[in-house]
Amino acid sequence: MYVELKNINKTFGDFKASNNVSFGIEQGKLIGLLGPSGSGKTTILRMIAGLEEPDSGDIFIDGVRVNDIPASKRGIGFVFQSYALFRYMSVFDNIAFGLEVQKKSKKEIKEKVDELIKLIGLEGLGKRYPSQLSGGQRQRVAFARALAPNPQLLLLDEPFAAIDAKVRQELRTWLKDMINKVGVTSIFVTHDQDEAIEVADEIIITNRGNIEQKGSPLEIYKNPSTSFVAQFVGQSTVIEDYHKLKGFNKVRDIQKAVIRPEFVSVTKVNELKQFISAAEDGIIEQILFRGSYLELKVNVKGIILTAHRFLEDTPVEVGERVKVKIYRLYVFDEKEASLLRNPALEDNNWVFI
Ligand SMILES: Nc1ncnc2c1ncn2[C@@H]1O[C@H](COP(=O)(O)OP(=O)(O)O)[C@@H](O)[C@H]1O
Ligand SMILES: [Mg+2]
Repeated sequence: MYVELKNINKTFGDFKASNNVSFGIEQGKLIGLLGPSGSGKTTILRMIAGLEEPDSGDIFIDGVRVNDIPASKRGIGFVFQSYALFRYMSVFDNIAFGLEVQKKSKKEIKEKVDELIKLIGLEGLGKRYPSQLSGGQRQRVAFARALAPNPQLLLLDEPFAAIDAKVRQELRTWLKDMINKVGVTSIFVTHDQDEAIEVADEIIITNRGNIEQKGSPLEIYKNPSTSFVAQFVGQSTVIEDYHKLKGFNKVRDIQKAVIRPEFVSVTKVNELKQFISAAEDGIIEQILFRGSYLELKVNVKGIILTAHRFLEDTPVEVGERVKVKIYRLYVFDEKEASLLRNPALEDNNWVFI
């Protein structure tokens, strides 16, 4: 493992920001640290960077225990949520900053900065000041500035949080490409699951100072291993009494389950040709227009399920009686989550990723 945290604890007053946090990261990977606000993500980054000291536990980078190595000697680049560029310095000087500190020669600095300006696609804008750039351009400069001293590890703390949705979308793909190109091991903090799923090679989920799960975006999405992850990831609805639904037997004493829209399919009564006995009857309670699809709230035996329907499909109406197929759900107790499939719909597995 290139970066390794072992049994890290950190308390602020009586608040446990890191609770026995352990994880490892392979070299060259882009890791997404995903969790709700206040779950301890920034604290983890700051401890890795040396800006905060753990109460106990060890941090290793490239095999070296860095607990006692000052921040400036850890070889880490940091990109913050707020642009944190130097306002009175040009783009060129901002990017050159770390190299000046390293006392590199003028020639070397110019070469490196020109190369980075080219890399981030801002050729010709080296003389501009941060106020003359868009939010997206400023974050590109912040990224170049962090990369200039050739860090062994790049930490990004919600770098796109202050940027509007459309540009943020573009920057995600951009960042993933850049990091691949440069090949630097990176940890990317976000509270936005779409962002983490899209950008990261691997996701680590934090909750109240704990690490809940670590895995590829697909693993985390498909196989949430804790009740928190099952509820936090995906467009999840918690339902009680899931065992009232056809095809699902009660597991141990577990009452609750999580269901996602993609596990539910709503069909007009006359559309259903297969699995007739396995389908439930439901009543459409609400229809929300979501742009590229419709979101339906459908009542099945008093349980409200969320489902999606294509705009191209025959329209359904509020109050209409429909057929509802429920393919799978996740049951969970305080600790664990596990997947239940509906055996009566089993050979329709192609629906799933
Ligand atoms: N320097 C600090 N002093 C006191 N409390 C802090 C400090 N830094 C973080 N905290 C607390 O620790 C908790 C976790 O914070 P943080 O790591 O910033 O979470 P996240 O980045 O996931 O939102 C927060 O509730 C915050 O109030
Ligand atoms: Mg934070």
